[in-house]
Amino acid sequence: MFRVIILNILIIVGIILAIIVLVAVVAYLIGFYGSYGSETIKPDGKITGKALIVYDPGLTGGTKTAALYMAEDLKSKDYEVKVAGVRSSDAANVSGYDILIVGSPTYGANPTGPIKSYLNGLKLPEDITIGVYSLAGSNTQDSNLVMAQILKDKSIQVKISMKFGNSAFGASGDKNQYSNFVSQILA
Ligand SMILES: Cc1cc2nc3c(=O)[nH]c(=O)nc-3n(C[C@H](O)[C@H](O)[C@H](O)COP(=O)(O)O)c2cc1C
Repeated sequence: MFRVIILNILIIVGIILAIIVLVAVVAYLIGFYGSYGSETIKPDGKITGKALIVYDPGLTGGTKTAALYMAEDLKSKDYEVKVAGVRSSDAANVSGYDILIVGSPTYGANPTGPIKSYLNGLKLPEDITIGVYSLAGSNTQDSNLVMAQILKDKSIQVKISMKFGNSAFGASGDKNQYSNFVSQILA
């Protein structure tokens, strides 16, 4: 009897673990393929500037959501915005933009590997304004500072570096913080 109970518990734990692994693998694959995508968001009227927002979608997609919030805000200020996954060809082509924003989730207290590689490989045109942001669950882990430091080590000036924090999964729905980021990079 006791052995049957133990066996049933082990089977249930095994099924739960298998579901967790499956969800993680599916989330990773969605993020991996999503990081090759890009889209262009155009203002209705005249275009006053062009911005490129590069993101790593991560596991729960919050970094892309934050990128899209910022793109909408830039659009309302007459910017044409390319929102590009970090592995896309549009992310690699940084010429012709007034603004570059790079966003990363925080995993293991750091930006993701693809974002670090992207920042390390950046060759920027003159007169482009740079901002970096991260999403994090922890109050104390600021992977945006790691991103800014990578650029600083390449003698690239970062105008605004911000963490959108305290969300264990995904992006906070408070759009003011993304508008604040946009206002600061345009100031
Ligand atoms: C597997 C995993 C590891 C994480 N590790 C950290 C961490 O080390 N530090 C932190 O502040 N947040 C951590 N987080 C929280 C994420 O940074 C946060 O949920 C962020 O929104 C993820 O971005 P995404 O939605 O674009 O994937 C982790 C989240 C997950 C799912």
